[in-house]
Parts: sequence; structure tokens; C-alpha cells
Amino acid sequence: MAARIGNWLDRRFGWRSVWQTVFLRKVPKVNWWFTLGSATLFVAINQGITGILLTTYYVPTPDHAYESIQYITTQVPAGWLIRGLHHWGASAMVLLTVLHMLRVIVYGAYKFPREMTWFTGVLLLIVVLGFGFTGYLLPWDQKAYWATIVGTRIAGVTPIIGDWILKIMRGGEDLSAVTLARFFGTHVWILPLSLILLLGVHLYLIVRIGISSVPKKGE
Ligand code: HEM
Repeated sequence: MAARIGNWLDRRFGWRSVWQTVFLRKVPKVNWWFTLGSATLFVAINQGITGILLTTYYVPTPDHAYESIQYITTQVPAGWLIRGLHHWGASAMVLLTVLHMLRVIVYGAYKFPREMTWFTGVLLLIVVLGFGFTGYLLPWDQKAYWATIVGTRIAGVTPIIGDWILKIMRGGEDLSAVTLARFFGTHVWILPLSLILLLGVHLYLIVRIGISSVPKKGE
């Protein structure tokens, strides 16, 4: 029965060849360091799911942000778990992305024909760090507030355009409701959409070109 449904769908969608190309493709003999990209992908999916769940209770306004997070942690069933997974997942994501990048550097996997895989990776790293920076403000506690004061001030000392960048980031001279709205919008819309787009290209290239093998001595 399942096979017949599979065949019916395959004749219409051609899903078997997609499955074959993506999951049953041949890969060279590699080692555990090559699992870091997939580990990052796994955590990215965790961040997406737990992040969406958090938005069902989180309120991005100065009056309610802090209380809504306290409510999630202490009142919502499994809220502490969802928040914890998102909180620790954020650190794991940065760590894994950097380790994955180091693996690529050490094995020289950024060379021809993988320059564009590397380039999309660099943009992914910026997106991952952006998630961390914008997410840090959302609890709207003292740590979040002052860290963002410092972070935006650092961006503000950029030569010539620094003042302009600071105002764009804060939505004015000081941190306010506009800053929180801006950081929230960036965290839940701009960055996730950029991540999906960049990851799409990154993974397409990995499937199309295939992953590199462990370089031999002198290579
Ligand atoms: C959200 C972050 C990222 C995810 C989810 C991700 C995912 C992956 C996956 C699943 C692979 C397959 C092979 C492997 O796992 O090593 C891969 C390969 C690769 N990644 Fe990433 N990546 C990310 C960030 C980066 C960054 C920051 C760079 C470099 C700046 C990068 C550069 C590359 C390159 C050059 C390859 C090809 C490696 C090879 O063929 O041996 N990636 N990535």
C-alpha cells in the first residue's frame, strides 16, 4: 500500500530522484570534523522551532518584555525548557559555526570550486552573530540594556558613518521602545529570512559540488 502511494506520488513529483540526489549521494571517506556543519544545521532548526514557540508569549515592548519572559520561564508549561533550549542553543550555534569554519580552513575546503560555499558561509557567520546581538536585548533586563548600549556605541565609533549607524540601530539617540521593536523585527524576520536564503544556496552548492575529501600530505 505504502509502496503504491510512493509510486503514485513519484510519478507526479519525481521525489525519488530528489531523495537520491540529496540523501543517497556518494560522499568521500571523511572524519568526525565533517559533522560540524550538520550539527550547526541541527541547532539552527532547534532555534527556529523554539524561537517560534517563544513568540507565542513574548511581548516586544518595554512595559511587557521582561514580565513576559518571566511568565514563560515560571508559568507556561515547559516554558523553561523552550527558553533554555533557545538560550543555550544560541551559544552552541555560534560555537559550532566557528568550529565548522575552522574545519573548512584547516582542510583548505574553501578553495576551487567551493569559493561560493565559503562566501555564503561568511555571510551566514554574520547572520549568526546578528542573531546573538539582537536576541540579547529581548529580555529587556539590566544586562540586556547595558550590553546593547555598549554594542551600539562600539558600532557608533565607525569612521564617518558611525553616528548614522548608531541612530539606525537605536532608532534615535537613546535606547527606547523603537530600539526593542527594531531588534525584535530584525531577530524574527530579517535574519531568519536571510538565514533561509543563504542556507539554501550553501546546501545546494554542497549537494551540487559534493564535499571535499581529507587533503593528503603536500596537497
Ligand atoms: C549557519 C551556519 C552554517 C551551516 C548550517 C553550515 C552547514 C554546512 C554543511 C551541512 C556542510 C557539509 C559538510 C560539513 O558539514 O562540513 C557545509 C560545508 C561547507 N561550509 Fe558550511 N555551514 C554554516 C556556516 C559556514 C561558515 C561560517 C563557513 C565559512 C566561512 C562555511 C563554509 C563551508 C564550506 C567551504 C563548505 C564545504 C566544505 C567541504 O566541501 O569540505 N559554512 N556547511
